[in-house]
Amino acid sequence: MRLLAISDLHVDHAANRAAVEALPEHPEDWLLVAGDLSHDDDRIAWAARRLVERFAGVVWVPGNHELWTVGDGPRGEARYAHVVRILREAGALTPEDPWPVLEVAGERVVVAPLFLLYDLSFRPPEVPRERVAAWAAEAGIRSADERWLHAEPHPDVPAWSAVLAERAEARLAARPPGRLVVLSHYPLREDLVLIGIPRYAPWCGTRRTADWPRRFGIDVAVSGHLHVRTTITRGGTRFEEVSLGYPRHWRRARGLEGYLRPILPGHGRPFWYWR
Ligand SMILES: [Fe+2]
Ligand SMILES: [Fe+2]
Repeated sequence: MRLLAISDLHVDHAANRAAVEALPEHPEDWLLVAGDLSHDDDRIAWAARRLVERFAGVVWVPGNHELWTVGDGPRGEARYAHVVRILREAGALTPEDPWPVLEVAGERVVVAPLFLLYDLSFRPPEVPRERVAAWAAEAGIRSADERWLHAEPHPDVPAWSAVLAERAEARLAARPPGRLVVLSHYPLREDLVLIGIPRYAPWCGTRRTADWPRRFGIDVAVSGHLHVRTTITRGGTRFEEVSLGYPRHWRRARGLEGYLRPILPGHGRPFWYWR
């Protein structure tokens, strides 16, 4: 078996749905899905079922899009619980399930799906947190999360992010032995946010996770959200950004199969931009 990863399937787009439909079966392999399937319940369920029926196992974490409440419906924690139910009904594992321990290429591998958020800490020192949205807007950047991602019952998303990080730290500290693969929507470190719009960085993670790779001995950290596919190895940890992204971010000719990232066994490239 192989451990493969993808994220940001954004199946609201017809081209992305067609790519999911055309994906061949992988009866031996497990797939890690780092969030952003869609914001729409039916499309989330559809994508989850298509993936679950093609792989031996699917492990999912939410992206910001799954957490959006567009119109009526549950918000914040209740929205998250609702999406977890959808994924479980489809047969996927979520951050609320026991972590799978797999045997990959003769090694014991622990897969840790983490529900994490952003807390606006990825920002220059001269910009106070209260000014982040205005500072981004000066460059024409407005995160849709400010409108659709609610934090109830927490006062705001950064407060929710802190609770989630604390919970994840406790779980990581008590993890079973084995090689550790961490799955989250957001990159664990600010220096991994390699995007063309720097003022969007505040909505891309939290500094709280910066020392986790060393502290918890993470072998591979899989994330998405940036829609910029990279492999970056630093300090013994391999960071894999595995987004598909919007139709403009990927090439039809390669198909979704061409974007499934080998996590374990790895692909042997310590640094790479994946076109
Ligand atoms: Fe995305
Ligand atoms: Fe995202």
